[in-house]
Amino acid sequence: MRVLLTGGLGYIGTHVATALLESGHEVILLDNLVNTSETVLEALKTLAKREGLAAENLTFFEADVRDLEALRFVFTASKPEAVVHLAGLKAVGESVALPLDYYENNVTGTIHLLQVMREQGVFTFVFSSSATVYGEASQPPFTETAPTAPTNPYGRTKRMIEEILSDLAASDDRFRIVSLRYFNPVGAHESGLIGELPRGVPNNLMPYVMQVAAGLREKLHVFGDDYPTPDGTGVRDYIHVVDLARGHVLSLNYAARHPGYEVFNLGRGKGASVLEVIRTFEEVNGTPVPFAIVDRRPGDVAISFAATDKAEQTLGFRAEYDLTDMCRHAWQFQKRLLHEQTER
Ligand code: WQD
Repeated sequence: MRVLLTGGLGYIGTHVATALLESGHEVILLDNLVNTSETVLEALKTLAKREGLAAENLTFFEADVRDLEALRFVFTASKPEAVVHLAGLKAVGESVALPLDYYENNVTGTIHLLQVMREQGVFTFVFSSSATVYGEASQPPFTETAPTAPTNPYGRTKRMIEEILSDLAASDDRFRIVSLRYFNPVGAHESGLIGELPRGVPNNLMPYVMQVAAGLREKLHVFGDDYPTPDGTGVRDYIHVVDLARGHVLSLNYAARHPGYEVFNLGRGKGASVLEVIRTFEEVNGTPVPFAIVDRRPGDVAISFAATDKAEQTLGFRAEYDLTDMCRHAWQFQKRLLHEQTER
């Protein structure tokens, strides 16, 4: 299929693009470059060629999902048969400070995309949602039917969009829609060519750990060790970004055959604490990760991990990589970045 991938030059996007190419799809990348750059497109093409994939099946449009005319141009020019929608703002703390930016980019952007899809007769849609929607409304493992109670504007944009998608599919049986609730994507493609490129100070754990290990930052601040968990630090369901990308391909295949709306968790179904991640990273990569325990981060939940039955039974999805793979592949990417920077 010809698949339009919004946010296609982002961390998740480049890995989903690779998985789509590996499955024989044509990939139309759409990105406004606010959180990435065109050098990532070159890296993606290099990866595709090195993997013997059809790099000519990759096209790129610089555009913003909020821009209706730009969207119409891209759809007319590339005639996509399906859309995987990853474009959006995703920093929890920033969403508290700039809620209007988050509602405009994430909610309005998605509405514009859906409007143009309907105009152009495109009805297959996979949406990047987030486990953040669960909040602390129930205890993990979170099933897709668990109550949702997002505790920040970012999470609320994801839940609002899920409700919009559910209503749209109920109103128009031409739509075939899947929402994917990501848990904590980490790691990188084993080639080391694509990975997470946070702008400024990383919000998320793994990119911060990588920068400390690389000597770019003095130490990791562990946000609290007084949670009700085995070692007191926060527990999360880390899933390798390559597994996550494969989950998108399975979801696209499912959506293409099933009218209506479905939600799936994408996680490993097991939790790891912050201290476990640090220890695993140090053991796998032989690099120390100095850290200090500091106060809790407002808005953090103690424990989050996925119930994976529905994705396994309905999509045939099971995460294959473990935490050691995630730490090894993340570090490989970070080392290549460092090598490139010293070469400049
Ligand atoms: C993981 C654990 C922190 C940084 C968020 C979003 C989610 C998704 C992933 C977008 C927690 C601890 C972290 C640090 C730390 N984002 N931590 N020191 O908060 O589970 O999820 O990012 O899609 O939607 O909610 O991920 O990586 O920020 O934190 O101690 O410098 O690491 O307290 O326990 P989180 P995270």
